[in-house]
Amino acid sequence: MLIENSIALVSGANRGVGARFVTSLLERGAHKVYAAARDCAALAPGDSRIVPIALDITDSEQVAKAAGQASDVTLLINNAGINHVERAIHPREASAARAEMEVNYFGTLSMCRAFTPVLIRNRGAVVNMLSILARVALPAMGSLCASKAAALRMTECLRAELAAHDVRVLAVLPGAIDTDMSRDFPPPKLSVDEVVDAVYAALADGPDEVLVGAMARDIAAGLATDRLAVQTRFAGFL
Ligand SMILES: NC(=O)c1ccc[n+]([C@@H]2O[C@H](COP(=O)([O-])OP(=O)(O)OC[C@H]3O[C@@H](n4cnc5c(N)ncnc54)[C@H](OP(=O)(O)O)[C@@H]3O)[C@@H](O)[C@H]2O)c1
Repeated sequence: MLIENSIALVSGANRGVGARFVTSLLERGAHKVYAAARDCAALAPGDSRIVPIALDITDSEQVAKAAGQASDVTLLINNAGINHVERAIHPREASAARAEMEVNYFGTLSMCRAFTPVLIRNRGAVVNMLSILARVALPAMGSLCASKAAALRMTECLRAELAAHDVRVLAVLPGAIDTDMSRDFPPPKLSVDEVVDAVYAALADGPDEVLVGAMARDIAAGLATDRLAVQTRFAGFL
């Protein structure tokens, strides 16, 4: 898919990877970018090709309104996500698991459902920002892993449902990225540019499952050869 002349919507567009998606789409010649954020005041002002949209992806009314307003979208980037860095069984905050599921799984599902008619009509593409932790259990972020794993399986179902309509569905599985979300994690971390560039490369001529960075590629390769060994190694990260 070409970015040039595309019309994109990016959720969580006010910071981190989402903010870089917005600027890089315009650099690559996108016609228009709907920059969706919970707080539109947090969006960087400027380019007339940027259309701000107030959007909390867990709010079904706002999601439906966004799909109505952005009915010309050809590229949906479901970027919004949260990570409370909590264990599954012994969390400090019991509500974290539900919150992560609400945003990372149900919110992303809600966006996919609302935009499916738009994407079919416009022969578009969907990019779901997941995580390599959708493929492996890191106990220190147990509930995050579960929410991203659910979103990955949903993404695979969406891909199957939309294949007949020529709508591409990408699952993006990065390792740690240098944003607010991973502020407290040690390096190495991917830059936001490495992440968005990998997505554009995959949209142009790449796989539907996008492993971003050496960490993600090593984990995926390990899982393919000895799943239990990889899982045992990660079990130590409590
Ligand atoms: N950072 C990493 O290490 C890493 C690794 C793998 C995958 N990812 C994934 O990459 C994506 C982008 O993450 P990031 O690193 O850019 O994180 P970030 O800097 O923490 O930004 C997260 C964005 O999601 C938005 N958001 C959260 N809940 C939302 C909701 N209910 N509705 C709408 N927007 C919401 C935030 O908006 P507010 O400003 O309003 O909170 C913010 O714009 C996420 O899906 C994340 O899971 C990140």
